[in-house]
Amino acid sequence: MVHNYNTENLVIIEHPLCEHNMSLLRNKDINSDMFKNTVHRLTTMLIYEVAKSLPLESCSVETPLAVCEAKKLKEKTQVIFVPILRAGLVLSDTASEIIPNASILHVGMYRDEETCKPVWYYDKTPAEFENPDDVRIFILDPMLATGNTAKEAIALFVKKGINIVNITFISILSAPEGLAALTKEFPGLQIITCKVDEKLNSRGYILPGLGDVGDRFFNTFG
Ligand code: URA
Repeated sequence: MVHNYNTENLVIIEHPLCEHNMSLLRNKDINSDMFKNTVHRLTTMLIYEVAKSLPLESCSVETPLAVCEAKKLKEKTQVIFVPILRAGLVLSDTASEIIPNASILHVGMYRDEETCKPVWYYDKTPAEFENPDDVRIFILDPMLATGNTAKEAIALFVKKGINIVNITFISILSAPEGLAALTKEFPGLQIITCKVDEKLNSRGYILPGLGDVGDRFFNTFG
């Protein structure tokens, strides 16, 4: 298939449960309880997949019967989840359940409905990272639409010295336009998603998409 985006560092989860849960999530008639549970299952799949890249170190553990060699996540690696408020919150609870020692740094941007451009209103990131090479950044936003908000969040960490190969953008659904924007601006960025849809509509919503994920998850209206 010919794409207008680079697929080199793109992972699209191929799994029957991913397909199944996406079919549930797309259904406009499910209630917010079912929507949340389905998002939780998909997030679990995404986080396990990205966690494959985390470095391990050897350790020794005493079981009730004997001492054995084991492996644990490398202690000096700092795993950081970055939910882009508000919609990124739909992924962050599940992500931190799976990797409980991870830090969560919230960043807040909303999308101006007219221009589709991001407007910053919150940044909980440190001024600098002590050991940037030991940091793994996982940016969370369920929908990669235009990519404008994603680009701002990624650029923030690049500016603070994080190597682009240590940044992963995690979404449930992506638009080709968003993938093109990110892969063009940040070669080396890791991207993972459950599905790539057809296109954006004139208001920057993904088609056929999921609708407004924040509204559906938090049971709000517009
Ligand atoms: N945000 C959403 O919630 N849905 C879209 O389709 C695009 C951005």
